[in-house]
Amino acid sequence: EKGTYPHYMLKEIDEQPLVVRRIIQEYQNEAGELEINADILEAMNEADRIYIIAAGTSYHAGLVGKHFIEKMAQIPVEVHVSSEFGYNMPLLSEKPLFIFITQSGETADSRAVLVHIKELGYNALTITNVAGSTLSREADYTLLLHAGPEIAVASTKAYTAQMAVLAILADVTARSKGLMQNLDLVKELGIVANGMEVLCDAKEEMEEIAWQYLTTTRNAFFIGRGLDYFVGLEGSLKLKEISYIQAEGFAGGELKHGTIALIEDGTPVIALATQEHVNLSIRGNVKEVAARGANPCIISMKGLEADDDRYVIPVVNELLSPLVSVIPLQLISYYAALHRDCDVDKPRNLAKSVTVE
Ligand code: M6R
Repeated sequence: EKGTYPHYMLKEIDEQPLVVRRIIQEYQNEAGELEINADILEAMNEADRIYIIAAGTSYHAGLVGKHFIEKMAQIPVEVHVSSEFGYNMPLLSEKPLFIFITQSGETADSRAVLVHIKELGYNALTITNVAGSTLSREADYTLLLHAGPEIAVASTKAYTAQMAVLAILADVTARSKGLMQNLDLVKELGIVANGMEVLCDAKEEMEEIAWQYLTTTRNAFFIGRGLDYFVGLEGSLKLKEISYIQAEGFAGGELKHGTIALIEDGTPVIALATQEHVNLSIRGNVKEVAARGANPCIISMKGLEADDDRYVIPVVNELLSPLVSVIPLQLISYYAALHRDCDVDKPRNLAKSVTVE
């Protein structure tokens, strides 16, 4: 139940620190080390390439998951939108492992791919929030998100839970391969949970940002580079699905290849700056859009901030920044929808789980 909350979405946003802490506990052994079922580890270790299959927000979590698995466990990963996989099927490697990411475990587009790859004789791991769901039952292995029921159509806590579980999967696989990891994931996820709490307490600031940038606009852009680009994609999906503002997320470097033509006086451009190696270039992009009249809103991470940043999130490990930097975008979307009198939990034309192809 939503208790004192006006909407499930706001409740679910607020649950995120708790969910991350619960995930750590669920995947910790008695010695306090992160652990993954031995069969899953074996499948990860045998794979010469991983194919992540997902839709919507889960696809966006997959993009970040690819980064985790490649950086930590050094296994090549491809991420595919499930509805396209059938038509644009890649040449498969010799020993592929399929990972299905799905909050509900019922998404028909993803299930169609699962059925197909099982016919081909390949192994599948489903990462889902719903034990006993169709995609969990039909896959060889399951990892649970432990996020608790997600009721709002707009996915929030499932997205951060998916990234946390993918980070754990990548970390444990890497260690089992003897790859040295220079991050203590339990500690870093603890810092993430604390950072999330700070952001959940920043609702008034987020409401103000929504008010200032998004109350009357027809469109909005999200830009970022590296991991921030993926979070921007998720931010734009959140905004469009609940506030009906036409929103687009794209890589900062792509601006000059077309999208900059859309910038007009007052166009809101939300830029993420949480990655040190691209901090200067994303700020360069902000200058380019500002020079054409855009209304830029920079959300940066402490240590990388500049004077005119609109909000500065607490420091977390750069690799894990998407788990924290998405929260302002979730809250901004929530308040934008609220100000525009939209039905936040049940946006028009959408269902919580999409059980038709
Ligand atoms: O249950 P799933 O994770 O498979 O659902 C996938 C998408 O339908 C879902 O993430 C959708 O994009 C959300 N409404 C986004 O907030």
